[in-house]
Amino acid sequence: MKRLILALDVYERERALEIAEQTAEYLWAVKVNWPLIIGSGLNVITEIKQVTGLPVIADLKLADIPNTNRMIAGRVFKAGADYIIVHGFVGSDSVKAAMELGRTIMVVEMSHPGAKEFIQPVTDGLIKLANELGPFGVIAPATRPERVAYIRSKLKPEIRILSPGVGAQGGKVRDVLRAGADYIIVGRSIYASRNPRESARMIHDEAMGA
Ligand code: XMP
Repeated sequence: MKRLILALDVYERERALEIAEQTAEYLWAVKVNWPLIIGSGLNVITEIKQVTGLPVIADLKLADIPNTNRMIAGRVFKAGADYIIVHGFVGSDSVKAAMELGRTIMVVEMSHPGAKEFIQPVTDGLIKLANELGPFGVIAPATRPERVAYIRSKLKPEIRILSPGVGAQGGKVRDVLRAGADYIIVGRSIYASRNPRESARMIHDEAMGA
């Protein structure tokens, strides 16, 4: 099973499609975020799917009222996204609005230092919400493998853990996978490297051996 997700955080469509095509062999999925959608438009989702044949995760971290979440998620799924990332702290109704339209991934803790200020203190509540709603997966920080292990221990086994923070943010492939993550999300260490294909291959190989 492939366990690497490429965070394709570039603005330009051509560059995005080139990197996606070069690295596809080593990926489980491609994640798109605001930079690429702002730079290239929503249609880039379909184009990435065409050149890679892989699922696309739209990492928009939706955090709005149910109606607005529904309006955004509806267009994003229509554009071909297979999964959408939503924030849980806005409440169960907002998460459900996205879940009614397609497969959803909920943020339960973030990878950056500031996550300790407001998100980490409510992670237990977010795990409880994920267990109640049953999204496809949750986001947990590769920068803190001990938190991934904690989240894994509290989360229903069928809910996947996707972990960003490997590489540029300091997380290590082996540590986070051994802590219980199902997938690692890697951006800069691949797309900003001199040889994205080779970087993806190395991270993929490391993940397979973890
Ligand atoms: P880098 O370049 O740091 O990119 O490998 C990481 C990618 O993942 C996103 N990211 C997160 N998304 N919760 C999320 O939902 C997080 O805690 C988190 N940390 C990083 C980031 O936006 C980039 O696309």
